[in-house]
This record gives sequence, structure tokens and C-alpha cells, in this order.
Amino acid sequence: MWTLRVVLAGGRESGLEPVLRLGQLLAVRGAQRRQLATAERQRALGAVYTPPEIVDFMVRLAQPAGRKCRVLEPACAEAPFLSAFIQRYGNTHELVGVEIDPEPLHRARLHVAQATFVEADFLLWEPSIPFDIILGNPPYGIIGDESHYPIYLLKERKRLYRQRSRTWFGKFNIYGAFIERAVELLRPGGKLVFVVPASWLVLDDFQRLRSYLAQAGGLQVYYLGKVFPGRNVSAVVLVVEKGGRGLQLYDGVSTLRVVKREYSGEMIRFETEEWSQFEREGMPLGRLFHIRFAARSTEVRAHPAVSNKPQPGHVPVLTGRNLHAGWIDYETCYSQLWMLKSRASELRDFYGFPHLVVAHTKGTRVVCALDERCYPWREEFHLIPRVQGLDIVAILRHLNSEQVQRYVSELYRDFVPHLTASMLQRIPVIGDFSHVKQFDFTQPS
Ligand SMILES: C[S@@+](CC[C@H](N)C(=O)[O-])C[C@H]1O[C@@H](n2cnc3c(N)ncnc32)[C@H](O)[C@@H]1O
Repeated sequence: MWTLRVVLAGGRESGLEPVLRLGQLLAVRGAQRRQLATAERQRALGAVYTPPEIVDFMVRLAQPAGRKCRVLEPACAEAPFLSAFIQRYGNTHELVGVEIDPEPLHRARLHVAQATFVEADFLLWEPSIPFDIILGNPPYGIIGDESHYPIYLLKERKRLYRQRSRTWFGKFNIYGAFIERAVELLRPGGKLVFVVPASWLVLDDFQRLRSYLAQAGGLQVYYLGKVFPGRNVSAVVLVVEKGGRGLQLYDGVSTLRVVKREYSGEMIRFETEEWSQFEREGMPLGRLFHIRFAARSTEVRAHPAVSNKPQPGHVPVLTGRNLHAGWIDYETCYSQLWMLKSRASELRDFYGFPHLVVAHTKGTRVVCALDERCYPWREEFHLIPRVQGLDIVAILRHLNSEQVQRYVSELYRDFVPHLTASMLQRIPVIGDFSHVKQFDFTQPS
């Protein structure tokens, strides 16, 4: 079992508390004889380098209020942000970089001699004096087992991170913990400028983080899209002015699209008058349907009526690839799993009656079809009516309509690579529901 070993970090930054170094972590994982290749180590620590034009933009946003500010770059690697900060604002500031990986840190010390560098885990590091400006590009990724998750070198620390965080929720993502910790280390009136994935704007796992940020300060969010070469991640620059209020959402670096004088942690979307009106006029889909996930892959595989060869009476277990707007391909077996159709409802009771299926994995698009034949599924959302008397065919057409596609793609862009249950729940359904029986708005979907 892994035990926490604490060593003093060798930084020149004053007031340092004991923090763990990466070398110690590798040692306790028994990896001291196995030199991790640099590229692999960087991948496992979430290293992605920031294009210089983004560094420039962020350094402009981080403009210091005085001549001697305390400036921090967490997860600094070779400290591109500190270096650009000096070029733009001169040498008078007190600059600190924190990095867990000694290799890039060594180069940072050579390149940015004016700064103080600390080899430490930023999430466990305890400086004694807060900062005026914190800027940079924190690591991204879910921490967990090497087999499933990118950030596996820090796996043993996950419990400790979670204990120290007030916003950690669900699988979370290391960048969320960096945002929270950085905001804590700002002095009142101080400013955070981070480039991070856009997923925190909409995912439920970041609900606590959004609420925390809403209370901590005024937010500016600059949506940049997929600006990291070779990475399929949509990014935003987040600015937090500690102690301020409200939210501003920019499309790109300068087009202000959404202004909220009061913000309290709700999803951050490209709201427009057209879509607000659509939402006011329609009934949210989540009020009309329970939105359920398909049976998980492991569950399907383990079921005694499922086989990996077609057999008499068996039908394909369907996946997202079988689902198309308005129709289902019942023939092709993409899952390579077959099941006795009469037992499909043992996996999920709703497989036993016709219902609407909506794609989860086709980007931020709504793709819906009616499963009339009651097949087993391994993926996608399943819509189970909460009320009697719904016109299922009209709702199916509406969900596949051009208007709904525009609603979803304009509000959520490509913040995440898939449609989420929360997005689906909010889709307005236009129609007269006065004849619909058994409304029960008190029950959560
Ligand atoms: C996304 S890279 C960014 C590097 C640099 N800011 C840039 O833009 O070029 C993230 C860096 O975080 C470092 N890192 C990962 N986990 C860390 C932790 N817990 N504490 C400090 N640094 C960490 C990685 O070693 C990597 O250098």
C-alpha cells in the first residue's frame, strides 16, 4: 500500500510548507529502476504546450495593476507565461513558477533566471503569501488507472486532492482542482488567467466548481475552440477577478456575446434572445420524459442471454452506430454481441416497450429514432414518457428538426464532444400539453 512520504521541496520561494516531489512519488510506486521515457511521463502528467499566440493573449489579459506584483505560473514546465510576462511588463515583478517534473523545470531555471522556481505538486503546495496574478495552462485529464485514464502518475494522490478540494465531484478532472486551488491562492482583487478545456462550462461534474467560481469573483470566459494543435479539445481562457461579480462570455478573443451581472453557477452557454424565447415557450424535454442511459457494456457482456456469436432467436445488441435520425439499422451488429430479444427487458425494463432513443455520442447534435422493435441496447439515451398522451412521432420529428440542431449547436458549440443528459433535458418541446395527463413536475427526471 502507498504511504504518504513528505519531503521538503527545494524552492527559493519563502514560506514553503512540505510538499511531495515527483521523484518521491515515482520511488514509492517502485519505479525508481524504470526510467519513464520523457514523452510518456509528460503525457501521464497532462503536459500540453501552449501556442505562443495564446500565451500572448493571456499575458495581455493579466496586465499588472502596479510595478511590483506577485505573479505565479502553476504547472509552468519551461515557464512560457513568466517569460512572456517579463517581455511585456519588464523585470520589476516577483515571479514564481511551480512544476512537478524536474526536467522542464531545469530548463525553466536556465531560461527565466529572474524567477523563483519550486519543484512541487501545485495541488499540495502551501505558499505563505497570496498572489496578485496567477496565469498559465494547467494539466488536463482524469486521474486514475493507467488502463483507462491519462493522468495515472498522480493516481495515488487522488484521495488527498479530493480531501483538500471543495469542488471535486464525480470523475472530475485535474484542471478543475487547479482552478480551485489557484483562486484560493489569489489575494482579494487578484486575477487568475488560465487556458483550460471548455467542458467545465456545461458538465455536471463541474457544477460545484462553477458555483464556487460564481461566489469567488467576476468571470470572463473567452471561447477559443480547438486551438491546441493535434488535440481534439475545445479550449477557453478563463479570467477570474477575485471579489468581483457576474459573467462575460466572449466568442473568440474580442466578441462579447453574453453578459450576466449576476451569475450563480449555472451552465455557461451562448445564450441569445432567440434561444431564450424558445426555452420560455417550450416544455423542457426532461419534464415530459425520464432520460435513462443504456445498460453498460460490462453488464451486457455478463448477461446470460448475451452471446458473442449470433444464435437462433438472437438479435444484435444495438449501439450508437445503429441509430440514425428517424430510423434504426436493426441488421448490422456493431457491438459483436447478440441477445435473445425476449430477454432484453432483463437488462433494462424499458427495452421491453417501444420508446425514443437519442444519440449520446454523435457530437452536439440531436439524433433521435423510435425503437419500435424493442431491441437490447448498449449505448445512448432512452426517453421514457413521464406522462400519458404524448405525441411521440411529433416529438421525434421535433428533436430531429433543423431548429433543434441549431439550438443545440449554437448554445453549446463543441464544449464537449457529446450531447449530455442535462443538455437533452432542457431542449424545449413546442406544443399544447394541456391534454396531457398525469403531469408530475415534482419528480426529478
Ligand atoms: C499543460 S502543461 C503546460 C505547461 C506550460 N504551462 C505551457 O503552457 O507550456 C502542464 C504541466 O503541468 C505539470 N504538472 C502536472 N501535474 C502537476 C502538479 N500536480 N503540480 C505541478 N505541476 C504539474 C506537467 O508536468 C506539465 O509540465
